[in-house]
Amino acid sequence: MTKPNARVLKDVIRTIPDYPKPGIMFRDITTLLGDAWAFRRAVDELVQPYAGAKVDKVAGIEARGFILGGAVAHQLSAGFVPIRKKGKLPHETVRVSYLLEYGEDEMEMHADALVKGERVILVDDLIATGGTALGAVELLRRLGAEVVAACFVIDLPDLGGAEKLRAAGVDVRTLLAFE
Ligand code: PRP
Ligand code: ADE
Repeated sequence: MTKPNARVLKDVIRTIPDYPKPGIMFRDITTLLGDAWAFRRAVDELVQPYAGAKVDKVAGIEARGFILGGAVAHQLSAGFVPIRKKGKLPHETVRVSYLLEYGEDEMEMHADALVKGERVILVDDLIATGGTALGAVELLRRLGAEVVAACFVIDLPDLGGAEKLRAAGVDVRTLLAFE
């Protein structure tokens, strides 16, 4: 049997070829989330650089960023802010449209989700083209947040999203990459 400390997070992520469209290698984190060791390890690694730092809020991107972001917020004793696909939030929102690896969409935050100057960490499962994260950072900055960092479990470096986000002045952290 593999010793726990010999395990690596990457091995727990399942890849589904041609989902949701032909040519896409879909990196499925449900297998990571369902593995007690891997879920804890991923959250611990996301949290570790910010332990003791002043973080007011963690913003998570729908849908997979909610699961990781909620756990990170809890660990940092920070509030959690959902960034949602359009039409889901009940109060006044700010909205941005963004491009995806396989389409286009719009997302929203509640306009009163942050107080100007609050220190925010953005969390999602994966960065690919960076369209989603750039849109989220735009919303956070529009509301006056100081975006401390954007953190992802998975980087798809061939799609260049992490570099785009860094070029926009964001400190980007990723735990592993699929080339
Ligand atoms: C995935 C992933 C990121 C985004 C990354 O979400 O969870 O949010 O794509 O892609 P990008 O860097 O090219 O923008 P998806 O849009 O599939 O939504 P879901 O989590 O609701 O399935
Ligand atoms: N979001 C964008 N590209 C993705 C991929 N290849 N796997 C999982 N989620 C994604």
